[in-house]
Amino acid sequence: MGNSMRREKRMLLRKNHPTFLKLSSVFFFLIFSLIVYGSAIDDNQQHEQNNILKTRLMNGKTLTDLQGNAINAHGGGFLKLGKYYYWIGENRHNDILVSCYRSTDLINWEFRGNILSRQSSPELDKANIERPKVIYNEKTKQFVMWMHYEYNNNYSYARAAVAVSSDIEKPFHFLKSFRPFGNMSRDCNLYKDDDGTAYFVSAARENYDLILYKLTPDYTDVQQQIATLWAGGHREAPAIVKRGNTFFMINSGCTGWAPNQAKYAYAKSIAGPWSELKNLGDSTTYHSQSTFILPLQGSKTTSYIYIGDRWDGKYYFNSKYIFLPILFPTDNSMELNWTNQIQPNLKTGELILK
Ligand code: DGJ
Repeated sequence: MGNSMRREKRMLLRKNHPTFLKLSSVFFFLIFSLIVYGSAIDDNQQHEQNNILKTRLMNGKTLTDLQGNAINAHGGGFLKLGKYYYWIGENRHNDILVSCYRSTDLINWEFRGNILSRQSSPELDKANIERPKVIYNEKTKQFVMWMHYEYNNNYSYARAAVAVSSDIEKPFHFLKSFRPFGNMSRDCNLYKDDDGTAYFVSAARENYDLILYKLTPDYTDVQQQIATLWAGGHREAPAIVKRGNTFFMINSGCTGWAPNQAKYAYAKSIAGPWSELKNLGDSTTYHSQSTFILPLQGSKTTSYIYIGDRWDGKYYFNSKYIFLPILFPTDNSMELNWTNQIQPNLKTGELILK
């Protein structure tokens, strides 16, 4: 055997040696991972620079819509319609009262219009509208908005108000402002149950009580006052969700724009009895106040997203949004932890935390 043949044989043996094969596959795997990781980083940076197609929701940072404008949907509510999620909330710029955004991924939001303004009704010319929420009525084929109504910089009107529209993106028709069964009504929310029955909950008696009402079948009025919750407890910012057969409510204390300790309770029937309130998250609810609980049902799991406002009482338009995953250590308990960002996966229902 000549020298060159011997060298070739040695090379061949070395190449087929198991250690060589293992090392080379590790090497190629590392190179491949670096390329994938690098392009992912470039991707995120590019998305953020161009302000289009972001890949995650950043908590406590200014969220911008697809046109690059800050999202104004404070004290908001969320609604799923086909492939879109809608986000409806307060917008206090000029004569605008309520704005509407939509998204197919909960991350990239498209501004769709201002759906309530001072021009919508003479009753709204000097109104202060807070915490608007919208649900759809299958029977009347109308979207129904409930909200907290105050007037002329006076915070003692303490009324609920109702508006309707056949198109969620188009201006709503303002119906009325009133005190449900004569009760004061401030921070509020809606909950629509699986059977189509809808409920309104709001802070009453100078925010000392939360009162739960059943709505009429067309959702435009209260039909029945069904429960007074934690009377004297001084709670506001209520948000209700059902998980399995258990209802949960998250609410906050009453400290104006300043954040405080959120609490939650559970019930097996929405009318109660509701459990005692237990602390949720840290003593400032990670510097936020509850506005909505959004279930995200996917092929692998159903996640529940706590959505809160990080209010800036001095510079209202500086207020931010917080989206956090709610954990359920048991069927009757909730847990809320801080995370800088989330990446909701609408297919699987997972909230990949980064
Ligand atoms: C707390 C409420 O939850 C908000 O909606 C807003 O009304 C502020 N108070 C005003 O102080």
